[in-house]
Amino acid sequence: MSSFSSSTREIPQVKEIPRHIAIIMDGNGRWAKQRMLPRAAGHKRGVEIVREVVKACAARGVEYLTVFAFSSENWRRPAEEVSMLKQLFILALEREAEKLHRNGIRLRVVGNLAPFGSKITELVTRAEQLTRDNKGMTLTIAANYGGRWDLLQAMQRLIESRPQQNGAFTEEQLASCLAMAYAPEPDLFIRTGGEQRISNFLLWQLAYSEFYFTDTLWPDFNAAALDLAIASYQRRERRFGRTSEQVEVAEKSPPPKRELA
Ligand code: IPE
Ligand code: IPE
Ligand code: MG
Repeated sequence: MSSFSSSTREIPQVKEIPRHIAIIMDGNGRWAKQRMLPRAAGHKRGVEIVREVVKACAARGVEYLTVFAFSSENWRRPAEEVSMLKQLFILALEREAEKLHRNGIRLRVVGNLAPFGSKITELVTRAEQLTRDNKGMTLTIAANYGGRWDLLQAMQRLIESRPQQNGAFTEEQLASCLAMAYAPEPDLFIRTGGEQRISNFLLWQLAYSEFYFTDTLWPDFNAAALDLAIASYQRRERRFGRTSEQVEVAEKSPPPKRELA
């Protein structure tokens, strides 16, 4: 699949339903604590919510759903929690790959998977292979992902693959080396759990995304909460640097695609 151009170079197509939703699923630990349960209970419930949100997004015509499952900073958590999260990831890959496939969903996993070990890398490869030709929604799981890691690995690949350019790269060339080059940039970014930060998620691609923060903890999120986020998105005016008047004119007669000078 071809890579998409950058929203700072070209105005993307804006639809009623966001083409790409990216979610920081936060609040599992606090949800468990409120119920005097171990943090693991929150993470387990969190996986069930992913299932519900995948279904809801696909039903609404979202083309790409990206969820942040484990950040490059989450290794700082107690070893016991890290190991439990790895175990949950393994279980989810084993149990869900077939189901995703039956539902026509394409699965991709982005992040530096090597530190997770061979079991996870093998399961990921198998699930990606199984679902690669599916034509439904693309579900991306970000695992041991960090926006800075992604930018660095993209720069390194770019320098290696184009030595003759002496570092004179275009945005499109850099974007094409990012881990999610197969997807357009997120239209809607959702973070549950009340914090209002990016936590090293998709740094490059969130340049022009609409942000939606909710206090709802991830294990309490559901299809209705997703609809609230989409409704908020639909009330926004995405200007991409233009004035409101220009946007109104453009909506009546979309201009021909033209790159910025
Ligand atoms: C998000 O929930 C899940 C992961 C980071 C894996 P948290 O575990 O961060 O939950 P809180 O923020 O402690 O409530
Ligand atoms: C961000 O959540 C990462 C994931 C949801 C996987 P954290 O709970 O780790 O974020 P910070 O560290 O509080 O910002
Ligand atoms: Mg958290």
